[in-house]
Amino acid sequence: MNDKTGRNDFCPCGSGQKYKKCCLKKDTPLRSPSLKQSYYKKYNIRIKDEKDIDGIRKAGLLVVDTLEKVKEFIKADITTDDINTLVHEHTLKNGGIPAPLNYRNFPKSVCVSVNNVICHGIPGPYIIQAGDIVNVDITTILDGYFADASMTFFIGKPNENAQKIVDVTRESLKRGMKAVKPGNTTGDIGWSIQSFVESHGCSVVREYVGHGIGFEFHESPHILHYGKKGSGIPLVEGMVFTIEPMINLGNRKIKTEKDGWTVVTADGSLSAQFEQTILVTENGYESLTPFNL
Ligand code: MF3
Ligand code: CO
Ligand code: CO
Repeated sequence: MNDKTGRNDFCPCGSGQKYKKCCLKKDTPLRSPSLKQSYYKKYNIRIKDEKDIDGIRKAGLLVVDTLEKVKEFIKADITTDDINTLVHEHTLKNGGIPAPLNYRNFPKSVCVSVNNVICHGIPGPYIIQAGDIVNVDITTILDGYFADASMTFFIGKPNENAQKIVDVTRESLKRGMKAVKPGNTTGDIGWSIQSFVESHGCSVVREYVGHGIGFEFHESPHILHYGKKGSGIPLVEGMVFTIEPMINLGNRKIKTEKDGWTVVTADGSLSAQFEQTILVTENGYESLTPFNL
């Protein structure tokens, strides 16, 4: 193969088609042992094989099923600890392990982040109120495989600000996911999210990012929710990572509370988040924690 052939050049096989539409794929050592090795050596990224993907997919379906249970259950006048109990019990009942519990000394089985809490809210006695927005972030280990997803819920009728931040955040994840395909880069994902979010006057949290996942809770690489087109690491088939934009209605500055976990907006503004675990496929992506955004 002529390694100078560009994606948009005519294919060297003489078909008359563009190279990217024709032989590029078979010329690229996708999921070949050498590509796997070089991604591990260069980036510490562990490309997954079919068996791994199957395991993560199963873990992902349990995460989504648990999120559905939360969606049916969540309402005003329950505590965030009631959500913890539901997630903990539903996960165990289905043969899973809640990954947050005791992870770096996190004391509960799920993160529940209300209103101005950006992420890592610890379930406790707080009573959920009508008008709140509540993110529930679930990570489950099933048969040794990890999957991670979160949704932000409205409690009762949202006000205009709550509606806006949740809509913008949801759409930003959709856009980030659409940027996932072989040949694009991690920076393309970040750019898609940031450009959309900032065009609506909202801001992207920088200190917390998406991450490789599957064998561990947090693997390489970091998936930034901001950045430049074409920057970062080229995506290849078999990569599995989360995209999980945390978006603030005000500025992007954060503070961490004295408990060492709860991350809040410095300006007190609302913050929302959606997260899915994404597999890079031959032509694009598959969500391993599929739910409608
Ligand atoms: N689920 C979070 C993420 O999306 C991580 C939570 S860490 C914990 O990466 F310890 F707070 F659970
Ligand atoms: Co998560
Ligand atoms: Co995550």
